Amino acid sequence: MTDLTTYPWPADFIWGSATAAAQVEGAAHLDGREDSIWDHFAQQQGAITGGDTPEVAVDHYHRMPADVQLMKQLGLGSYRFSTSWARVKPGDRAVNPRGIDFYSRLVDELLGAGILPWLTLYHWDLPQALEEKGGWANRDTALRFVDYAEVVYDALGDRVDHWTTFNEPLCSALIGYTSGEHAPGRLDPRAGLAATHHQHLAHGLAVSRLRQLGAAKVRAGAQPDRIGITLNLTTAIPNDPADPVDVEAARRIDALWNRMYLDPLLRGAYPVDLLQDVREYGLEDHIQPGDLAAIAAPIDFLGVNHYHDDNVSGHPETVDVVTSVAPTAREKRSPFVGSEYVTFPSRQLPRTAMDWEVHPDGLRRLLVRLGGEYSNLPPLYITENGAAYDDVVAPDGGVHDAERTAYVLAHIDAVGQAIAEGADVRGYFVWSLLDNFEWAWGYDKRFGIVRVDYQTQKRTVKDSGLAYAALIERVRANIYTETH
Ligand code: FCB
Repeated sequence: MTDLTTYPWPADFIWGSATAAAQVEGAAHLDGREDSIWDHFAQQQGAITGGDTPEVAVDHYHRMPADVQLMKQLGLGSYRFSTSWARVKPGDRAVNPRGIDFYSRLVDELLGAGILPWLTLYHWDLPQALEEKGGWANRDTALRFVDYAEVVYDALGDRVDHWTTFNEPLCSALIGYTSGEHAPGRLDPRAGLAATHHQHLAHGLAVSRLRQLGAAKVRAGAQPDRIGITLNLTTAIPNDPADPVDVEAARRIDALWNRMYLDPLLRGAYPVDLLQDVREYGLEDHIQPGDLAAIAAPIDFLGVNHYHDDNVSGHPETVDVVTSVAPTAREKRSPFVGSEYVTFPSRQLPRTAMDWEVHPDGLRRLLVRLGGEYSNLPPLYITENGAAYDDVVAPDGGVHDAERTAYVLAHIDAVGQAIAEGADVRGYFVWSLLDNFEWAWGYDKRFGIVRVDYQTQKRTVKDSGLAYAALIERVRANIYTETH
């Protein structure tokens, strides 16, 4: 591997780490917080591996100041976190001052430690009360989201200037409403597409609202906010590029996984081929006049989450396919509405504990492709990348996670290559700072660069965390010597 410090990293490149409220905070019913769909879902028989719940998670709610010190010790330039709607507006009713206070203290701790707060408004945890009114399949939820965004902005807009509306709408719409694997656990292709459109709408309306709210700040001389969204994008590779059946399957996955998000957000239109693929499932019934213009409100950055690319086939499953569906008892179906027949044959590459194939070049390809295809593409940030492995604590007390270390460095290498090829990437956030509640997998899969002992909540920086910290320091030193 190339010496990673030799890539042309922009001087203000952000090296960060990410978490999400439902995965780390715990305190699920403390200080006025009420159920999100994940609290409710976790109570359902067979929904989460091992019957785990987000009730306590890694107790970040109480340990937040020490966790921020840990970030400082690692040399992180930014912390990507999410606010919990169910904490800020329990039941989507009145504002909960104690909920807001937690985030206000977090932001102050971060700023005090010299760490840039990178805030996400929605990382999958809808108040359960709104799910009972139809959730994201109900258009009104988009309007409720905008009001919630305004509440968070009113409280934190004076100190936070990086705002992300949604994290991975693909998962919160299709995996939550169509495949049944994630909360709210619905198995309805039509609801998944309705949720997709309503989340897009919520995003666009919130971008415009936050801009209006931020205008006063700008008039007073502050830098304008940076507002964007995070998508999980893939490179869909036909298993046999000479086989039209595989090429067609890869086109379908590219449409559903990438372009169903990128095109409305950046071009104000759903892709024509996608509309054809999902014709029977009513996506177009939800599009009202003005929606697409609202959805395409200009954004200042695009967050890209990437863990694996996808080798796609249109032929029936062979024995060795790559899937990563949690082994829970609940019924599940394919999230790929209208393209359920598609399969993902293994390429015999190394796999992580999630069974995801390790192929960093997929990330390089993706980043380069985006700039080539979308003329108005805003700057990119890798807002999540990382890997789960079955860590062990060594007799010396350390976690010598050589595989995760190699994974992270190889993906940073791919980002460096993409930048050298012209991609406008301005930051990288490793997922995750801490081991945490990995959705339907519960506490079974560890993604942290810091280990958490779930019995004692003790934090131990893993070798991957040490390697990441050392890299950050070396890149910064390099940039410093180059510019002085
Ligand atoms: C992403 C999610 C994040 C985490 C990682 C492993 O899809 O955004 O919360 O679970 O996967």
